[in-house]
Amino acid sequence: MITVSSNSILTKLPQGDFRSRCQALCTTLRKAHPQYDWIGLYWVDGDHLVLGPWIGDQPTEHTRIPIAQGICGAAVREEQTIIVDDVNSDPRYLSCFTHTKSEIVVPVYADGLIVGEIDIDGKNIADFDTSDQIFLEEIARFIGREWPGRW
Ligand code: SME
Repeated sequence: MITVSSNSILTKLPQGDFRSRCQALCTTLRKAHPQYDWIGLYWVDGDHLVLGPWIGDQPTEHTRIPIAQGICGAAVREEQTIIVDDVNSDPRYLSCFTHTKSEIVVPVYADGLIVGEIDIDGKNIADFDTSDQIFLEEIARFIGREWPGRW
């Protein structure tokens, strides 16, 4: 459940290049929403997703994900936000951290095409609802507007 506006997050971002602003965005999002346990941005690279800026207690082994796989791949294939309340009962799930229970993946569009996505893990069952979806889709539109054409 989200109670903070995307504007209050986005106006706090430092000036700088796209990558450093995206890294700052991940950090700011996690500070504002402690239930966002691990936050990563993946960029589309042909038929794969490549991990960009991320924030969390541990790195993920999934730094390159085939679009054919995972909840991350499904969000690109289905061109929509995916919320999974219980990752352990979703056969698409690619496991990263044993404590992860739920996940939300939000596509980032630039000029009508998916160029990447926001991937967030939660430690509790059903950590994400439609308020998170609305909030994160606003954040994704912001990233899409700033998208420089390559990652
Ligand atoms: N769980 C994702 C993989 C990425 S990690 O959560 C960081 C998936 O199923 O695609």
